[in-house]
Amino acid sequence: MPNIGDSKCILVVGATAGIGRALAKSLKALPSKPKVIVTGRRQERLNELAKEGFETAMVNIDTDRAGLKQFVDSIVSKYPEVDAVIFSAGIQHEFDFTKPETVDLDKLVSELNTNYTAIVTMITYFLPHFLKVASKGQPCFIVPITSGLGIVPGPWVPCYSATKAALHSYSISLNEQLRGTGVHVMEIMPPLVESELHDHQGKTPVLSKVWMPLDEYTKHEVDGLLRGDTFIPIGQTADNFEKFEKGKDEIARGSFKFIQSLNSS
Ligand SMILES: NC(=O)c1ccc[n+]([C@@H]2O[C@H](COP(=O)([O-])OP(=O)(O)OC[C@H]3O[C@@H](n4cnc5c(N)ncnc54)[C@H](OP(=O)(O)O)[C@@H]3O)[C@@H](O)[C@H]2O)c1
Repeated sequence: MPNIGDSKCILVVGATAGIGRALAKSLKALPSKPKVIVTGRRQERLNELAKEGFETAMVNIDTDRAGLKQFVDSIVSKYPEVDAVIFSAGIQHEFDFTKPETVDLDKLVSELNTNYTAIVTMITYFLPHFLKVASKGQPCFIVPITSGLGIVPGPWVPCYSATKAALHSYSISLNEQLRGTGVHVMEIMPPLVESELHDHQGKTPVLSKVWMPLDEYTKHEVDGLLRGDTFIPIGQTADNFEKFEKGKDEIARGSFKFIQSLNSS
């Protein structure tokens, strides 16, 4: 199976902390020695990573379409060998709909844009490049990071869960559409993992008692990427994947083939 070990140049969107930073470091250390470009909003963190030999690019993905196009174009023009992109940037907000007056709709839109719309937009802008590279025989990889909460929602983070369910659904469809093109989708589906995601909610001390340590998690994640798995559910998410998701992609493939046959008849 084509896998991340085939990649020459990997962009990690959201690599100044947590899952993205740990993954970027593990990928850079692969025997295949890919070039790894790390991004995020915090320039000081990017400076630290530059000292470790990473390529860096500052970006705030919670922006408009023109800003995202400019970012993707700048990456492709500076790194024409880029053949993989990992979308690790994400944010999470709690909303209590029993107190609707407390629901900050600006935060909700920002969460939707960061976790879903901006990612689909960037994929759309990267695809002409990836399809061209793949047509010359170099496999390309699109790696969205969703969540176990995209399978079974967390009612305390209702919109976050919905963004991850949306990205998961989109990833299945994208993988089916790209079948045979040489552009592969590998979806990482983490459980609760050690990171900075929950710091702003003040929940880190409690969650740290039950989360999966980042080192342990990253090992599973890299193993899955090196196997070339289409879905990489880890920890508790693997149990829920087995229970609720197994075989869903095959049914989607069947219905896609059926619709294609109708279109061509
Ligand atoms: N940790 C978990 O328990 C868990 C579970 C399931 C899924 N996930 C998913 O895993 C991914 C990584 O999360 P994490 O836990 O590693 O969180 P984290 O420690 O908070 O890291 C998030 C990363 O995303 C970047 N980011 C956030 N908003 C951004 C923006 N607007 N533009 C550019 N970069 C942005 C942050 O960089 P800057 O702040 O420098 O911009 C940071 O590098 C997310 O998609 C998250 O939803 C996490």
